[in-house]
Amino acid sequence: MGYVIATANMKGGVGKTTLTVNIATCLAKNYGKKVLVLDLDSQISATLSLMSPVDFAKRRKQKKTFRYLIDEIITPDANSPANIDEIIQPQMCNLPGLDLIPGDIDLYDEFVVSEMLHNQSIALGEQDFEIIWNRFERVLIRDILKPIRDQYDFILLDCAPGYNLMTRSALATSDFYLLPAKPEPLSVVGIQLLERRIAKLKDSHEHEAKINIKMLGIVFSMSNANLLNGRYYKQVMHRVVEDFGVEKICKAQIPVDVNVAKAVDSFMPVALLSPNTAGSKAFMQLTQEILEKL
Ligand SMILES: Nc1ncnc2c1ncn2[C@@H]1O[C@H](COP(=O)(O)OP(=O)(O)OP(=O)(O)O)[C@@H](O)[C@H]1O
Ligand SMILES: [Mg+2]
Repeated sequence: MGYVIATANMKGGVGKTTLTVNIATCLAKNYGKKVLVLDLDSQISATLSLMSPVDFAKRRKQKKTFRYLIDEIITPDANSPANIDEIIQPQMCNLPGLDLIPGDIDLYDEFVVSEMLHNQSIALGEQDFEIIWNRFERVLIRDILKPIRDQYDFILLDCAPGYNLMTRSALATSDFYLLPAKPEPLSVVGIQLLERRIAKLKDSHEHEAKINIKMLGIVFSMSNANLLNGRYYKQVMHRVVEDFGVEKICKAQIPVDVNVAKAVDSFMPVALLSPNTAGSKAFMQLTQEILEKL
């Protein structure tokens, strides 16, 4: 069975999505792996890093986005059940092995989820709403991916910043998580906050099925953000090494490279569009390091 890996940090804009789509690309392109990217963020950045807005609009019109797989669980429609095989878009950017479940700007309605779980708890005579809610979180993404999990070497889950229902469900389902961070204090706080949340998530599920997610590594991205302040960034990284241990920090760091940001305009990850740039080379090194770690 393949690996399910979530990319998460409470902090926004630290390079989660860029990391997800580029690692997915390197795994498919350089190692012939079969990879699925699942976009869990209603900003749909992962989706728009792999397809144009026009193509996305078409998919959305055809009801072929992740939203319809969530809908299927919250409000099942016996007449037209959503089928994950039809929602997965294969060979993104014409790269064999790189598949995507497109995200949606409107993934789910919290009120509808709460109402459904409330009704469920009444029907089951379960007094403790928290138990029902935790169970739902734990199985939501797991159940959605179940029919296709064995078909992939890697399933990469691109989480939104913060800590919403989708992120919790992703973490409950994943074997590992990658933690991209910028070497700046607030980004580092994002690592600590997520670590604490994951410990709590594991605790709250301990009596049911155990959550076994492990950290795969902290990846410093945009690490030469300001060369003039290089020494300061080194100090911050040093602090992270002290807090988390040197073995948790990935050796490959992703430099600031305008080609990485520009690639989004071509709806293609930089690792595919311009493989000889510094950013691409760093993603390739990181992918190799991740494979060795696994
Ligand atoms: N190595 C890099 N060099 C230059 N620009 C980068 C690099 N990595 C990411 N970026 C740019 O920085 C911005 C934030 O990156 P990205 O969207 O990957 O972060 P994120 O953590 O997923 O953000 P969010 O929290 O909003 O989901 C994007 O515009 C992206 O193109
Ligand atoms: Mg993102």
